Amino acid sequence: RTVSIVAGGDSSELPVSLKSAQGIYSFIDKSRYDLYIVEIQNKVWRVRLDNGVYAPINRHDFSFEWNGEVITFDFAYITIHGTPGEDGLLQGYFELLGIPYSSCGVLASALTFDKFVCNQYLKGFGMKVAESLMLRKGQSISDVDVVEKIGLPCFIKPNLGGSSFGVSKVTKEEQIQPAILKAFHESSEILIEAFMDGTEITCGCYKTSNKSVVFPITEVVTHNEFFDYDAKYNGQVEEITPARLSDELTKRVQTLTSAIYDIIGCSGIIRVDFIITDKKVINLLEVNTTPGMTPTSFIPQQVRAAGLEIQDVMTDIIENKFQ
Ligand code: DAL
Ligand code: MG
Repeated sequence: RTVSIVAGGDSSELPVSLKSAQGIYSFIDKSRYDLYIVEIQNKVWRVRLDNGVYAPINRHDFSFEWNGEVITFDFAYITIHGTPGEDGLLQGYFELLGIPYSSCGVLASALTFDKFVCNQYLKGFGMKVAESLMLRKGQSISDVDVVEKIGLPCFIKPNLGGSSFGVSKVTKEEQIQPAILKAFHESSEILIEAFMDGTEITCGCYKTSNKSVVFPITEVVTHNEFFDYDAKYNGQVEEITPARLSDELTKRVQTLTSAIYDIIGCSGIIRVDFIITDKKVINLLEVNTTPGMTPTSFIPQQVRAAGLEIQDVMTDIIENKFQ
């Protein structure tokens, strides 16, 4: 089969996406699949060929021409973090073309990409989430209201974003408005969320028609103020897989991750981030349906810790869509 790894995107996470694409390229079995990396960025769609040469993608059928031959794709592995790969847009495009793809469908992608709506939805299923409020562009809030409704410290972050771009941990009133501005710079909606004191953990999961795999949990110990971009990608963090949790708590987190997968109706690999507070309460932070896949990202770590081969996991994800 001919497989495209779709990378790029129109958010600050572009460099992360390109690294994830490189990761996925190295993970997929090249004796089994013909692989191409397709970059979508600023409305330019192109496929990477050998020697740094690119060919344009024909958006009518997601094909390209090379040496007089038209090449079409059987499958798209979407690894764009942020719009248009994590929010349902590309999912809709591939649905229309009838090309199977790696990730959740349109609704699940759009839902999980909206952190506020997703967490409110999952709260309805009994999940614990931080007290939060959402502002759309043009809306404002006074410092007093933030302190009264959410309290300090709090997190102010883009509602539609990832990799901690535009995120601030706010401990003083005078930091509130600058943090709001910074978050709006990344996203048309922002989230003001109560700080949850505890251990950050993350758990990956994927299901196919005959398999349900929940990976070992990773514990995140950052030496920065919080798990920010630097901590995520410049090594300012200790990532411990499996997390130092009791067997009972591990089971509860994994069961919750699997339940979230089913409630949302996910497909492909997802990763759910949580904070465990001191009373062993498992609080949902967010659901990622296009998790980072760089060689040092959580999912590859968790696959290794599970004793699985990442190549087999990739084959599972692709082949499941042809059953
Ligand atoms: N948004 C980043 C890539 C993640 O969730 O892994
Ligand atoms: Mg995220």
